[in-house]
Amino acid sequence: MNRQHLVLGVALATAAAACRSDETDPRPPTVSLSLGAVDVAGSPTTAALPLNPATGMLVVDSESPCAVVITATPSPDTHDPVRLLHEGSGDPSTLAVYSDVPVRDPLAEVIYNRGVNIAPAFHARPGSAGDGAEVIAVLVAVPQDALTALATFTARVADAAGLGSEVEETTVELATPFPPEARGTLQAAPTPGAGALTGVLLPQRLVGGHSVLTSPATPFALTVEVLPNPQSGLKLDLVDEATGRGDPATLLVTVDVALGDPRQGGVDAGENLAQRFNADVAPLVDPVTGATTVAFVAAAGLVPPPGTATFTVRVVDVGGHRSLTTRVALDVSAGASFSRDVQPIFTGLCAQCHFSPYGMSPSLAQGTSYAQIVGVFGQQVAMPIVQPFTPSRSYLLHKIAGTFEDVGGGGVRMPRYLPPLNGVELETIEDWILLGAPND
Ligand code: HEC
Repeated sequence: MNRQHLVLGVALATAAAACRSDETDPRPPTVSLSLGAVDVAGSPTTAALPLNPATGMLVVDSESPCAVVITATPSPDTHDPVRLLHEGSGDPSTLAVYSDVPVRDPLAEVIYNRGVNIAPAFHARPGSAGDGAEVIAVLVAVPQDALTALATFTARVADAAGLGSEVEETTVELATPFPPEARGTLQAAPTPGAGALTGVLLPQRLVGGHSVLTSPATPFALTVEVLPNPQSGLKLDLVDEATGRGDPATLLVTVDVALGDPRQGGVDAGENLAQRFNADVAPLVDPVTGATTVAFVAAAGLVPPPGTATFTVRVVDVGGHRSLTTRVALDVSAGASFSRDVQPIFTGLCAQCHFSPYGMSPSLAQGTSYAQIVGVFGQQVAMPIVQPFTPSRSYLLHKIAGTFEDVGGGGVRMPRYLPPLNGVELETIEDWILLGAPND
């Protein structure tokens, strides 16, 4: 070996020694774990979970998800990225998150047992935190067992070079199984200024489940009853969650569409209606059960655009106990006209059999149909063929929806020999009846 080779050999040995010392010296990445509330749409938010003033702990319950937000800061020496990957999936960069109680993924409706790494299964939404650190995962979880007092989440991260963080832990208190109750009901709107409820329920759809129907001509009121947890006897006051003013008990009432009414200024989708409408109304006490209705929200006159509006109602008491979330669906009809929308269905699918004077009764042919069905009794049951405003008392609707046997009727579902009417056709006829079956 000549001198040049010898020099090169020494340089290589020095570089290898430097590399070895770099592997042991750099500081590891760090991981932090925090819990946040989840909004009605299931998206994690920065809003804090309720705090139990007695224990000073965050509270979640079996109904409301919590967001597990993990912030990973790469090693300040190597800056090696840390990413959300299943441990052992190939890339050595890993995240492990465990819970010591079973947790449920509300989006996938899957339950994960304690001790299972939930990081790869839950919904990761990468983002960045302001200070240069990276938010690498937001997991949305619901502790499964509401009777367990505490749930602890732990997280650990390792970067691509295999440097591991310290373990980070956060504990939440699970709510007691005796939450307060919040119920929402929709009814016809009180006349402006009257201050009391009409008690008149909105028309209930026969077809399409339990939703109730309104139209631009029939405004509605949403009332919310809030009943304290009988065990705790905690007082419930109506306070906007966002402002947190006064008593920490809160009421959340949101709707998933914008409600437009220029007189009242309108309401945005997701906005908390509770604060805004509380001012109009007085608390009620049920004389029979002694239950106190401490909140009442009227959304009178705020008619959403045609479609379905869903109201979400939830209350959190001063102990941080959260009621089950109640959802109330409201179908808003664009209205249906007899000549424009209903008669064409009869003409196309019914009148070949139901015509006047020699066809099946009633005639559903253009020009003769209205007089033969509205307020007129048929042959099969003691019920009008069409009873304005009342689908459940309209035999024609039972014959086309397939519920005729439930009301004592017979024969077959209409249209005979043809496929049943589709959802749009059924709703068109039902809405026309609900809105009074006008001859328009
Ligand atoms: C192929 C012929 C045929 C067609 C098409 C047809 N029907 Fe009928 N419909 C009948 C017959 C036959 C009866 C009596 C036997 C029964 O109820 O199954 C009847 C009975 C009825 C009754 C009960 C009348 C009473 O007096 O109690 C109603 C209501 C009705 N049909 C509505 C409709 C509607 C609405 C359509 C269109 C969507 C329609 N039918 C399409 C043949 C038909």
